[in-house]
Amino acid sequence: MKALPPESRDPVCGMDLSGSTDFVEAKVAGGHFYFCSEPCAKRFKTDPERFQGEPMIHLHDVWKVFHDGGVVTEVLRGINVHIWDGDFTVIIGASGSGKSTLLNMIGLLDKPTSGILNLDGKDITATTDDERTVLRSEKFGFVFQQYNLIPWLTAYDNVTLPMIFSETRDGMRREVLERHFGDIGLGERMDHRPTELSGGEQQRVALLRALANDPEIIIGDEPTGNLDSVTGDKILDMLITLNKTEKKTLIIVTHDADIALKADQVITLRDGKTIPGHLRHTKTYTD
Ligand SMILES: Nc1ncnc2c1ncn2[C@@H]1O[C@H](COP(=O)(O)OP(=O)(O)OP(=O)(O)O)[C@@H](O)[C@H]1O
Ligand SMILES: [Mg+2]
Repeated sequence: MKALPPESRDPVCGMDLSGSTDFVEAKVAGGHFYFCSEPCAKRFKTDPERFQGEPMIHLHDVWKVFHDGGVVTEVLRGINVHIWDGDFTVIIGASGSGKSTLLNMIGLLDKPTSGILNLDGKDITATTDDERTVLRSEKFGFVFQQYNLIPWLTAYDNVTLPMIFSETRDGMRREVLERHFGDIGLGERMDHRPTELSGGEQQRVALLRALANDPEIIIGDEPTGNLDSVTGDKILDMLITLNKTEKKTLIIVTHDADIALKADQVITLRDGKTIPGHLRHTKTYTD
């Protein structure tokens, strides 16, 4: 079987196919395209124009190497990934495979050791810390496994905190927020402190905080990991509803294969690399 030339990339997921002999070839609208797997090819055919454009987030040969007292750990080893505007992407992989490291990179919480990370076509690795802080607060909302609520602030003050750091300060106003607290069943508990709330209630507050600046991109690192399954499902449903109805780009790290079934794209990490066929587990593209 022929090997693909250098610089060959799967246009959908971004995987580097240079020199690969294990790929899928498809002829679409008179052009020849190469994919890591059948699911990517199928997805491309649903909207070829979209997938020939520029993805919202584009990682190109991203490496992350930690140096710890003489020990060198290569955590991400040449990641090539596309994340498309409005998609729900799930990152899965064994513990220690680099999921949180990759998510932190995408959310501009950390910088690659080498490689390129484009956000809306702009190379983020060439920006200053201050520029990234502004971008982060304007574009991203974060939900972590640990709720990271500030214990001495009320639920309401925790939620409005990100607005203080936002340049635009056009976050939600009190009456809007009151409605949202009502929507998540915490209308009466807005002025309570985290210690007076259950784990599930705290996670819902953390979710509202993530949405306070009306971010385009919502990032969750095991956002339901500490919750019972009923509460976890509720939080997840809220996130997926935001993705579907408000077209928020949603990127979630999880160990839960069921969540991956609901995603548009699944990035599977193994030993700091992505593995082909990472869309295989998705509902729409199951073959
Ligand atoms: N600051 C650091 N210094 C050195 N090693 C690190 C650092 N941060 C992470 N690592 C290592 O990088 C590897 C990947 O870590 P990461 O947190 O990304 O994994 P993960 O896939 O999110 O795992 P989990 O599912 O357990 O959360 C681990 O071996 C971890 O010990
Ligand atoms: Mg992790």
